[in-house]
Amino acid sequence: MKPKIQAFVFDVYGTLFDVHSIKTACDDQFPGKGEQISEIWRTKQLDYFFTRHIMGRYADFSVVTREALRYALSATGVTWTPETEDALIAKYTELSPYDEVAGVLNELHAKRTVVLSNGTDAMLTALIHNAGFTDLFEELVSVDGVKQAKPSPAAYMHWFKNSGLERDEVLFLSSNGWDIAGAKNFGFHTAWINRDGKPLDMPDLTPDAVYEDLSGILEWVTDEAAWP
Ligand code: LAC
Repeated sequence: MKPKIQAFVFDVYGTLFDVHSIKTACDDQFPGKGEQISEIWRTKQLDYFFTRHIMGRYADFSVVTREALRYALSATGVTWTPETEDALIAKYTELSPYDEVAGVLNELHAKRTVVLSNGTDAMLTALIHNAGFTDLFEELVSVDGVKQAKPSPAAYMHWFKNSGLERDEVLFLSSNGWDIAGAKNFGFHTAWINRDGKPLDMPDLTPDAVYEDLSGILEWVTDEAAWP
């Protein structure tokens, strides 16, 4: 029997939205280099966010997203204008949600659904609004409120401390293995949305469930007897 889940807490980038849907906008600006720019951009975005946190030089996700874009453009040997940079940054609030996300969120509508993301409040509010998902979440929470990057325990505590729940009443969902490990380390139940069939990151912090896409989480709500 599944535990009694009282809240579904979602990661955003890579979990609800395809961060690489930005490659189209990159390709429009730099034909043939969109995919390469997108891959480097995402890798350096996380790299900078984690590295700055560890160094004690935290910068919010909008800052590292812009820094990472500049690195990706330089690394692919293109030249660009401030206007082009701003246009690509603006596109980061128009990422494509994965196909099943709207349907799953509507199925969960009566449940407590929360976003807990490394994105800033402004990034998340715009992205969720542009996708038409605003009414599908009870809370949008950015780790920027505590200036701690996920997967640090403080980042999960930032939402959890006011949740009124026990840790084992929360199901945390992410496609990012490091985030699933962090949430498990914090004490949440975890469902890894392993969209790309990747190997497990940390065998000592295994997810409670693994799904190819978000629709798998509905098995946590079908057992109505588990709900108060
Ligand atoms: C998020 C991505 C960065 O926190 O994992 O939404």
